Amino acid sequence: MHLYAATFLWISCLLPSQVDLLNNGLARTPPMGWLAWERFRCDIDCKDDPDNCISEKLFKTMGDLLVKEGYKDAGYEYVNIDDCWLTHSRNAKNQLVADPTRFPSGITNLSSYIHNLGLKLGIYEDFGTKTCAGYPGILFQMDTDAQMFADWGVDMLKLDGCNVPTELMPYGYPEMGRALNRTNRPIMYSCSWPAYLAGGPKLPDYQAIAQSCNLWRNYDDIQDSWDSLKGIIDFYGDDKGNFSMFAGPGAWNDPDMLIIGNYGLSYDQQRVQMAMWAIMASPLLMGNDLRHIAPESKAILQNKNVIAINQDPMGKMGKRVIKNNDIQVWTRPVMPTGSYAFTIVNYGVYGTPAKLNYKLSDMGISGAKSYLITEVFDGGKIGVHTTSDVVTYTVNPTGVFMGKAIPQ
Ligand SMILES: *[C@@H]1O[C@H](CO)[C@@H](O)[C@H](O)[C@H]1NC(C)=O
Ligand SMILES: *[C@@H]1O[C@H](CO)[C@@H](O)[C@H](O)[C@H]1NC(C)=O
Ligand SMILES: *[C@@H]1O[C@H](CO)[C@@H](O)[C@H](O)[C@H]1NC(C)=O
Repeated sequence: MHLYAATFLWISCLLPSQVDLLNNGLARTPPMGWLAWERFRCDIDCKDDPDNCISEKLFKTMGDLLVKEGYKDAGYEYVNIDDCWLTHSRNAKNQLVADPTRFPSGITNLSSYIHNLGLKLGIYEDFGTKTCAGYPGILFQMDTDAQMFADWGVDMLKLDGCNVPTELMPYGYPEMGRALNRTNRPIMYSCSWPAYLAGGPKLPDYQAIAQSCNLWRNYDDIQDSWDSLKGIIDFYGDDKGNFSMFAGPGAWNDPDMLIIGNYGLSYDQQRVQMAMWAIMASPLLMGNDLRHIAPESKAILQNKNVIAINQDPMGKMGKRVIKNNDIQVWTRPVMPTGSYAFTIVNYGVYGTPAKLNYKLSDMGISGAKSYLITEVFDGGKIGVHTTSDVVTYTVNPTGVFMGKAIPQ
């Protein structure tokens, strides 16, 4: 077994004063909510598929279920529209228009409905000439469109990056951020900017991104599969350009939607996504169908202990500290002071749970004489251990152990 531990240069030595994060009062912890894309895509066929098409009915239904099924109480707050809500052209006044057959009451009506539930409404646009699905984009219309969103009572904007040269992004994304700010309405700003640079020759300018955006889609869109999930976790583990350094209250890396409750992941793999999104301080935006969801998936999504790690007020993003064939370990400093959350992820498919031995010091956890170690999902006690005690963790095939270590 070859373990290599990364250098534990926690962000605390590269002080937050060196990174400058957007502070518009929003997203002080990673935003939580629901977003249509992963599950409902661009289904605009309300005639033959009225229950699943992109329409005001879908968003009202999901808002109702966030409340009724306990998601709101667990912290999920935003109901977010994605692509395909628009008509194909602007109106005579050059304004964006929601499709009148699918949104007959209009966005203002929808936002009041969502607000009356005690929730917030998010909308989608694209920085380019057209959205990814070919609807009007906001290029050259930023101020009027930002004001329109504010007038409609919108609380969050996801701004995609199709149909525009990436060279314009360093100008356009900050400009739309300023346009949103000028409306004086607090509108959380999600940028797809670095997602369009991933794998390109130049690293995204994460400092500039974190100054303009509350969250930014970093890396490819998630798909409904374990392979897609692993690809995202690996990209975040590699942390090329040290983007983990630019996460904090007000500004978050966004590895895309939670696919828990859909078709592609086993029970254990769903736990992996929830645990990893918590350790990475990721936005928790569910992309599922809240009408049809297995009780065990719902329990994962509403697990209070895991959500508490995700929402930790320090907002430090976790890092991968060990990578060894199928096994990786991530740690994240959390409250109370001196504590850590950690995940041990097993990509292996060897059909019996892996028994893995680690000292806390192997995982970069040190500073106190001993720690109380608990399992996070169930809150079960593992025991009190010094940093040099060897502790055995059992991790299912394509599964995760999530722990917390609190100084004693
Ligand atoms: C606008 O920006 C200023 C300066 O960063 C910030 O204090 C304020 O909260 C922002 N207002 C809105 C509505 O975003
Ligand atoms: C929203 O639309 C519904 C149905 O068209 C209507 O009953 C309701 O009064 C409208 N609400 C507002 C706030 O305009
Ligand atoms: C990332 O951080 C490491 C040390 O923590 C440093 O050696 C490296 O140069 C940094 N890379 C970038 C692109 O900033």
